[in-house]
Amino acid sequence: MCGIVGYVGKKSAQDVLINGLRRLEYRGYDSAGIATLDDDNEAHLARSVGKIAELSKVLAKDPQTGHLGIGHTRWATHGGVTEANAHPHHVGRIYLVHNGIIENYKELKEKLSNYEFASDTDTEVLAALIDSNYNDGTSLKDAVAKALKRVRGTYGIAVFSPNEPGTVIVARLGSPLIIGLGKGETLIASDASALLGYTREAIYLNDGELAVCTKDGAEVFSLSLRHLDSKPETIEGDVEQIQKGGYKHFLLKEIMEQASALHNTLSGRIDTETGKMHLGGPNLTAKELQKIHHIVIVGCGTAYYAGLLASYYMEQLVPDLTTEVVIASEYRYRSFHLPKDSVALIVSQSGETADTLACLREIKKRGTKVLGIVNVVGSTIARECDGGTYVHAGPEISVASTKAFTAQVVAMLMFGGMLAEYHGGDPKLIAEYTQELSILPREIEKVLNDHHDAIKKIAKKYAKYDDALYLGRDTAYPIALEGALKLKEISYIHAEGYASGELKHGPIALIDDHFFEVFTILDNWLFDKSCGGLHEVRARGGKTIILTNSERDIEADDIVRIKSPVKLLAPILLNTLQQLLAYYIAVERGNDVDQPRNLAKSVTVE
Ligand code: F6R
Repeated sequence: MCGIVGYVGKKSAQDVLINGLRRLEYRGYDSAGIATLDDDNEAHLARSVGKIAELSKVLAKDPQTGHLGIGHTRWATHGGVTEANAHPHHVGRIYLVHNGIIENYKELKEKLSNYEFASDTDTEVLAALIDSNYNDGTSLKDAVAKALKRVRGTYGIAVFSPNEPGTVIVARLGSPLIIGLGKGETLIASDASALLGYTREAIYLNDGELAVCTKDGAEVFSLSLRHLDSKPETIEGDVEQIQKGGYKHFLLKEIMEQASALHNTLSGRIDTETGKMHLGGPNLTAKELQKIHHIVIVGCGTAYYAGLLASYYMEQLVPDLTTEVVIASEYRYRSFHLPKDSVALIVSQSGETADTLACLREIKKRGTKVLGIVNVVGSTIARECDGGTYVHAGPEISVASTKAFTAQVVAMLMFGGMLAEYHGGDPKLIAEYTQELSILPREIEKVLNDHHDAIKKIAKKYAKYDDALYLGRDTAYPIALEGALKLKEISYIHAEGYASGELKHGPIALIDDHFFEVFTILDNWLFDKSCGGLHEVRARGGKTIILTNSERDIEADDIVRIKSPVKLLAPILLNTLQQLLAYYIAVERGNDVDQPRNLAKSVTVE
């Protein structure tokens, strides 16, 4: 989704801003722009529709020389994709970039009838509102604070004015804003990846806070302009992690680096000698762990599917546990009730998803403990949770989530393993899971390498189809849902995921020779039943691809068989092949796999 960068210091603001915007490209956007202030206090604005490369062309013709500026990548919400709607917006003495949505912008616009508006955006209205409060004797900080008090909605903003050179004002409510503190320079970003390589010290602004940034640092205030203490934190990660490292796409890199990502997820958390798992982050006492009998798992999209798969595992491990897995955008508005013995797991790669965050707050209001299963360190969800676990998958740049899914499932599984210890879980089963987890990174690497070419070949064969159905039973069911989501996101092929047992209850009506079906078949007690659905599809002309860890006879058009000592966790292994399949089909169709159309990496608006 939209991205913000800002700079004040000694370097060329244009260079720092463009570099920062490139780092934020992965979030998805449709236009971009920067505004800078030169040493004669004259402001310069450049915006363009399309990729940063387009903006760079504009700047090549008319370079900006200042050392202070703000920049933005826009993912359209209010108003179409046009240069006029792109940020920064300039109204009167104000230059502004904004992430989020100003809900009462129409109301405010009516009251600002002395302004002429050049765009259809809510952001331009906010710029005018700040300008209207920027009277003689008021500082820019006062004007921003005053304006924000009249705003309903969400925002992360960065503002400057030629009237106050050397200062950028930032504020946040529901949309992240991070201030990087360098030597003689201060950077601003909505995502820490834009700060890597410049500084490791940063202030994460909280909701309802505003900061005055100069080259010497930042001072933080409440909206009522009370001075607040702010403790700088350390940013994790390095520049290499956010580069392609020789791969053609970030997506392929992220699929292929799942073994090392998982290694980090598992590090220090499993012990094969004792056969036990332990997570420190949830910070729960033995008594608190014993009390848990109900877990609600909340997420969106892939994070939701990770929760669904983990719920199967947790219920196997913990004999007296009930799990409920919910879609955040639905749950936040339901009149839900949680038993006293509940905890909530809030699952999010970015840690910024608006619906997931809203659920976290609703659940907290009801007095239930919320634990984060989050990838991005220092993100809003991680900060607002009572505790939790970072999945440590490393930066996920490609819009479609891959390695985060694997890491999320494993992190929740370890939580289940730990819980099982306090609930009379079968020690043999816990040890079996622990053992499989310990070899999972190695097995993922092997599966991805051994079957890479086979998947590539299959992808070529099916890339022209328009429809696909993904089917699975038991722990392969969440995998079917995730496989279908991955395919539709990046290949734009219509794909649906179903529980195999549901086939006869409707979807079988669709099957003809225009469809291909991906069956994930596990070598377990449901093997014969899973194959039942397969025969029905083949009898109706559907083309079938089988992903399996079984050596038993299966009739299909294409089969990929993996051989691995990993059995309970085989769905995770097979899912990595689904990721590859979606990737190669999308490449074959000539799509932009890292930034698929209409999608954003982190969905910070509802
Ligand atoms: C799918 C995908 C999305 C995200 C969803 C939640 O590939 O990327 O479905 O999983 O938007 O995002 P996070 O995990 O950041 O809350």
